[in-house]
Amino acid sequence: MKDYAIVSENITKVFKGKDYSVVAVDHVSLKIKRGEFYGLLGPNGAGKTTFTKILATLLIPDEGEAWIDGYSILKEPVEVRKRIGWMMGETGGRALYWRLSGFDNLMFFATLQNVPKEIAERRIRILLKFLELEDAADKLVMEYSTGMKIKLMLIRSLLHNPDILILDEPTLGLDVESAIKVRNFLRRLADELGKTILFTSHNMYEVEQLCDRIAVINKGKIIFEGTPREIREKVEEMKIVEITLVAEDSKLAEVREKLNKLPVVKEITSIERAGRIYKIRVSVDDHYTAIPEIVETLKGYKIESILRSLPTLEEAFLKIAGVRIEESVNNRFLRRMHRRRMSSEHG
Ligand SMILES: Nc1ncnc2c1ncn2[C@@H]1O[C@H](COP(=O)(O)OP(=O)(O)O)[C@@H](O)[C@H]1O
Ligand SMILES: [Mg+2]
Repeated sequence: MKDYAIVSENITKVFKGKDYSVVAVDHVSLKIKRGEFYGLLGPNGAGKTTFTKILATLLIPDEGEAWIDGYSILKEPVEVRKRIGWMMGETGGRALYWRLSGFDNLMFFATLQNVPKEIAERRIRILLKFLELEDAADKLVMEYSTGMKIKLMLIRSLLHNPDILILDEPTLGLDVESAIKVRNFLRRLADELGKTILFTSHNMYEVEQLCDRIAVINKGKIIFEGTPREIREKVEEMKIVEITLVAEDSKLAEVREKLNKLPVVKEITSIERAGRIYKIRVSVDDHYTAIPEIVETLKGYKIESILRSLPTLEEAFLKIAGVRIEESVNNRFLRRMHRRRMSSEHG
């Protein structure tokens, strides 16, 4: 156990309500080495937040056990908390005091972590400078942008100088430039200070660029684990052609059938509609032969464009997981319905 910063064994979490039961995390087992920059990649609703909250002792799993630096999350949560820094990008600044300045927030949280005042002050100054927040240090958090709040949350997670960082979508909601700065900063924490980082994201390109090793999570299950190179190779095997056309609803079934019948089309991966414009994405073996044949087949329809396209994250997952695509289009629909129901129930 001691060789690993984070070990998870069969961690499982089920959310149950009156009329629903969601397996948010489904027997997740991972081993993350000391000093490793580890990415957990997955679409919305995959279980990333739930899993990281369990590791951070903020949620109790229904099944399974995990060890942080050798300490059990179930039996030694206090020891675990001393050794980790946790942050979540999604709620941005909600965990901060908006009527205090950035600096005062950080001093307050450092006190809660029992960091001596002088050490806290020094660390805070250095970190504010690093993340280019020093000019805003004395401003009220209320006046901060989302990006500034996220940076402050990140600093907050580092105040007790933990060896292990669990960062849940820390770049979510950041503008491009701030996201680059935060990524560079995290990479330096790993390279220069030897921190172990568990980083979650739904951005495949970000994870690929940043992480030493990646696990892909979908519907609570780990469906792939490997290096960025291995994942890239998988994804590059996938070729997508995107067809944009104007059609009446009644014509769509016809278009679908024609595409499905075409041997160069492996499958329709998604159909999106905006008014009378449809975006149909299909996977093909080779776009050079597929595009002319698609053009030929769809003669007579109002085609706006037919282009080669990069796989979306979901398409890449499907490729990696080997799930039948029609099936998962339906799942995606169900998930959307579920989410809609959840959000109407919760205001
Ligand atoms: N408190 C909760 N009650 C009910 N369902 C939840 C709750 N938290 C998360 N879920 C569900 O668990 C699944 C995983 O959610 P989450 O861990 O937030 O995923 P991610 O962070 O990857 O987007 C989703 O289907 C979500 O709707
Ligand atoms: Mg999340």
